[in-house]
Amino acid sequence: MAIGTANFVRAAKLSDVPQGGCHAVQLQGHAIALFAHDGQVHAVDNRCPHMGFPLNRGTVHAGILTCHWHHARFDLSSGGTFDPWADDMRVFPVEVRRGEVWVDLAPRTDPQTHAQERLREGLERNLSLVTAKAAIALVGDGDPAQPFRIGLEFGTTYRREGWGQGLTIHACMMNLLPALAPEDRPLALYHGLTAVAGNSDGAAPRFPLRPLAGSTADTATLKQWFRQFVEVRDADGAERCIASAVQAGADHRALADMLFAAATDHRYIDTGHPLDFTNKAFEALDIAGWERAGTVLTSLASGYASADRMEESNEWRNPVDLIAILEDAFEALPAALEAGRARRGSWVANGTLTPVLLGEDAQEITDALLEALRAGATEVEVARAVAGAASLRIARFPTSNEFGDWDTALHSFTFANAVHQGVRRAPSAELLRGVFDAAMSVYLDRFLNVPPVRLPEPESDRPAAEARERLLPELAALLDRQQQVNESGLLVARYLYNGGDPARLIAALGSALLREDRNFHTIQMVEAAVRQHAEARGSADGVPVLVAAARYLAAHAPTVRAQGQTFRIAQRLHRGERLFEDE
Ligand code: FES
Repeated sequence: MAIGTANFVRAAKLSDVPQGGCHAVQLQGHAIALFAHDGQVHAVDNRCPHMGFPLNRGTVHAGILTCHWHHARFDLSSGGTFDPWADDMRVFPVEVRRGEVWVDLAPRTDPQTHAQERLREGLERNLSLVTAKAAIALVGDGDPAQPFRIGLEFGTTYRREGWGQGLTIHACMMNLLPALAPEDRPLALYHGLTAVAGNSDGAAPRFPLRPLAGSTADTATLKQWFRQFVEVRDADGAERCIASAVQAGADHRALADMLFAAATDHRYIDTGHPLDFTNKAFEALDIAGWERAGTVLTSLASGYASADRMEESNEWRNPVDLIAILEDAFEALPAALEAGRARRGSWVANGTLTPVLLGEDAQEITDALLEALRAGATEVEVARAVAGAASLRIARFPTSNEFGDWDTALHSFTFANAVHQGVRRAPSAELLRGVFDAAMSVYLDRFLNVPPVRLPEPESDRPAAEARERLLPELAALLDRQQQVNESGLLVARYLYNGGDPARLIAALGSALLREDRNFHTIQMVEAAVRQHAEARGSADGVPVLVAAARYLAAHAPTVRAQGQTFRIAQRLHRGERLFEDE
């Protein structure tokens, strides 16, 4: 607790403060407004806690100070506000000594506790400015995992439908945080937190089901029950199994095995969102702590039970019955895994699988995946190959397509990335079906690469390092204009192929993402691309996925950037800058 000892400073002569009026002073860097009201002198921070308007221009009536800008009202004695969007006003203890007003400037509150309380209030009332101020205070002075946990707890409690886009954005932002420039990190957290608040706004709260009391069912039994309940779309039964597995002590791998199995019992459910949400929930728990597993993972149950199943869709059945092809492949999976077991670690992705994955024959695609497994490829290796193919659909996406088709290609990629991350955590024959599903989705997206945009290639004539470094600010300028899709992809390739630092490029992409108003899919795209790029471990293989991310971002920029404006106001207030020139 940062509670200071008394630090009284002489502020003014009592006669300087007119009865019923106000006198403004500067004291050791504090702007203070002294109000004389009902025979007492009150000292308050002269910057309105809402947006900094000078409170000496406010009006006091019946002990309530009203700010004249947005009319927030404060109890003059305590500083408490009647308008939660404005925050409480800071008041300072006052003593009158021999005709002089003395003000105690010692800090009276624990800033971290106050910021946490304000963050909860911002989330509860979906107040972006309040949330921005809290995010800035909490990230600036402490561990970002702390406000992340508050957002996670809030989102999984106050949304009856459970895990949704808001929490996914929140997790994406937290994943991106280490790759961002330090000054962008509070902005990332702000975007995640406000996405959670927006997603819960007006929603009924969620009351998680309790585990089975006294049950002795083991994890294998609970997994079996769980899949049965999801199969018949019984969300309550499914949720109870998750809660019971957590209570039984299942670790993150066992829980992942259970949830990913159900998420892949049907084909590409809800265009991949439930599986992607599952992966994000696991990643969120890695950051926030697994003691929250019960609350977080039960929030996923309704998503599995209610999802559309691609067995029921025309495009997965006609003109080619992809479901039949997949079912044949799944039957062959155990034998393929067994055949490749002794050769694991020797498989080389020699560039032959990707052209097949991007080809025109669904049967050839599943055959090639099975063959890779027989040749010793691991679950992770085939999953990564499919994620790479999915990203190429975006890197080669021509702008002549319908605009909405960006999302079709995006869904395949984020699903493929989620399956890849899932098999890294808990490989299984069941989750491996997700790799095949992702491959079929990439196959279905083939019409989005007609004609394919040519991928930028390394140049023989390398620009000087100085010219290369100028490309990063140029990227930001490009993204100020609409539809600079090909130009942005080319710029990213030029920068990276010519020796540019991928970390600097990713930070620049992140910065460009954060200045736009939140778009769920663009955030998913950039986060998954950064994840996939990391898998390439600095090789040129990682370039196309960042080209894809830049192209997707360019297709969706610029927005009006209103959310960034709110954040900048909060930032200026936090820095103590004056928002009013004539203050
Ligand atoms: S109410 Fe005071 S600045 Fe908005």
